[in-house]
Amino acid sequence: MIVTIDGPAGAGKSSVARELARRLGFRHLDSGALYRALTWLAMSRGEDLSDSVRIAQLLRSSELAATCGPEGMSVSIGGRDATRLIRSPEVTRNIHFVADSADVRREMLPCQRRFADAGDVVAEGRDMGTVVFPEAQVKFYLDATPQERADRRLRELCGKAAGMTRERMIAEIIARDTFDMSRPVSPLRRADDAIVVDSTRLSLDQVIEIMMRRVQETRGH
Ligand code: DC
Repeated sequence: MIVTIDGPAGAGKSSVARELARRLGFRHLDSGALYRALTWLAMSRGEDLSDSVRIAQLLRSSELAATCGPEGMSVSIGGRDATRLIRSPEVTRNIHFVADSADVRREMLPCQRRFADAGDVVAEGRDMGTVVFPEAQVKFYLDATPQERADRRLRELCGKAAGMTRERMIAEIIARDTFDMSRPVSPLRRADDAIVVDSTRLSLDQVIEIMMRRVQETRGH
């Protein structure tokens, strides 16, 4: 079975997908980690990130692999475990070069689909239900208001972002949503058959409960 969770940055997709996969005994595909890994490899090799043909070539020759273990999904590329390296702010800053390229996204499809061929999966990202797994049995679109996402992000940062105000964080989140939703390739959008879960006033457990119920209903049919 394939369960997809798409939605904007900061809606809680990663925590939800990880925990949902754990409770269901499914594997967790974090598709953002794959784009991060390729960005990291390209940066560490000094590649021109704006040359999307070159970056797609790099992906073809770099043996990108996602594997699932007790600690969650790990990702290796170019023969190296990149699971931790991909979380740096430099990778986050540059990932749009890689994630917005149609050539790269096309090359990324088989890697994501292979992961699902190996068994039940909860796949998380921006285009899981729309492009990568349009045939998924259960699709969720996890959302929350920009205000709530800004508050969560500020709590996560624990005052470590000097000079960051709530208003500025909200504005950044709205700008990122607009960018993600209007990019020409794989824009962020709700699949027609996706169930919207608004997590603004829900705890992680409540979100998981809602999703578990939907998955179990579908499995029961
Ligand atoms: O979920 P994340 O923060 O790790 O995602 C990192 C970036 O990758 C984010 O800017 C959106 C992009 N992304 C994407 O374009 N398509 C996906 N399926 C997953 C992530």
